[in-house]
Amino acid sequence: MHCKEIKLSVGLGVILLSVGCSSLTAIESPEATPSGETLTYYEHVKPIVDDNCVVCHTNGQIGPFALNTYDDVKSHGLVSKAYVTAKVMPPWPPDNTCNTYKYDRSLTDEQIDTFASWVDGGMLEGDPATTPQTRNNNQDGLSRVDLTLTTEEYTPQQMSDDYRCFLLRWPEKYTERKYVTGFNAIPGDLASAHHILAFLASAAQVSEYERLDANEVGAGYTCFGTSGGPVIGVVGVWAPGGSGRDLPGGVGILIEPGALIVLQVHYNTLTSAPKAAQVSIDLKLDDMVEHDAITLPWADPLWWLADSMTIPAGLSDVSHSFSKDITSFFSGGRPFDLYQTFLHMHMLGTKTSLVVERKNGTTECIISIPRWDFNWQDFYEFSDGPIRVNPGDKITIECTWDNSAENQPRVDGQLLPPRDVGWGENSTDEMCLGSLFGVVVK
Ligand code: HEC
Repeated sequence: MHCKEIKLSVGLGVILLSVGCSSLTAIESPEATPSGETLTYYEHVKPIVDDNCVVCHTNGQIGPFALNTYDDVKSHGLVSKAYVTAKVMPPWPPDNTCNTYKYDRSLTDEQIDTFASWVDGGMLEGDPATTPQTRNNNQDGLSRVDLTLTTEEYTPQQMSDDYRCFLLRWPEKYTERKYVTGFNAIPGDLASAHHILAFLASAAQVSEYERLDANEVGAGYTCFGTSGGPVIGVVGVWAPGGSGRDLPGGVGILIEPGALIVLQVHYNTLTSAPKAAQVSIDLKLDDMVEHDAITLPWADPLWWLADSMTIPAGLSDVSHSFSKDITSFFSGGRPFDLYQTFLHMHMLGTKTSLVVERKNGTTECIISIPRWDFNWQDFYEFSDGPIRVNPGDKITIECTWDNSAENQPRVDGQLLPPRDVGWGENSTDEMCLGSLFGVVVK
């Protein structure tokens, strides 16, 4: 049997996969491969696909094809096996050997084996009566919705990626401070919305955003990596398949009267025609919470103030890192409980990580994203609860980029020549930014 190479484009990166090598695998480790001929779609594969793929791969959703029926899954079987065994699908960027997270979308090794062996065994259909009961992952939802804010209508531009920011003013009726304790986003057109980030700006920052908004015709304005202006935090993140989450128990994000939520929507219209639509966010609100959460941006200020994050043209493996005692960011020398984290780079990024270096010299992995994909950014909440960071502990962020000639953006089918890249907002600039969402322990 020949091994066939499949070239996958993932963001701007390309992965080479070998498929059809099952006889080779069988020679090397005969007992490791379960027999595919006894596996059937209805009994073994449908439960995996229904729980882990269909949320995005159904008509009207972001997935490029449906995986609802036996025929659907069979006709995309070979390519799905390649993506599933390479752990590109379902999208789940973090490395689970570093830490474990709530709302984990990834398949277990056993599920991956089952899917791959079923494809190798000829993709048998089986009997619908044998399908076990399934449940949907990732569908926690908000426990209560107290406020819905909606953007003006916008039609994404017909190009593969359109990044648009919309201003959502905090309602004037809230004259007292409120806390956001749960977040969801509802794109009007699920087939084109790839990710949504909700940034928080203070009343003092509103006029800067009004200027950005007024400079462009139509609803909102073009923005790439972040909101295009200063922020005081992040209210929530949405990715396809998401149906909203309450914040961890007792934790809330303070919203002062007059604040502004800046919603960045990443539209991808490669596989769907652009449609005029509005985007809404649902918020759960409380007047009081036990823990006032803050978002600490984690990056070296010299990267943008002194332009010191240089990624030289032509180099394929450039890293920058920043390490600091967390308690230097707030007074009183108190510990910090880290509840969720978010990492951000642009298109040349290949990997990124956060680790905590304890005062006693040991290190613990917070998050590691070994194959950066700009399209799949999320907040990650630890499944074992918050990570306590004590005075004297350091948090280190590290980012790696590929700025070689082969990894450049294409314009009209041509790769652009590499150039020195530094920190900036544009898609051709880069960032290395962590968000530490947590609570200063009283
Ligand atoms: C959270 C949403 C989501 C989930 C869950 C998901 N996919 Fe995808 N899938 C996508 C999107 C979006 C793309 C298009 C590429 C991209 O943006 O990464 C895609 C692309 C693919 C492709 C490549 C299609 C091509 O030819 O380019 C395959 C194969 C695939 N998915 C299979 C699966 C399988 C099998 C599962 C479940 C085991 C799954 N996906 C789960 C959203 C999802």
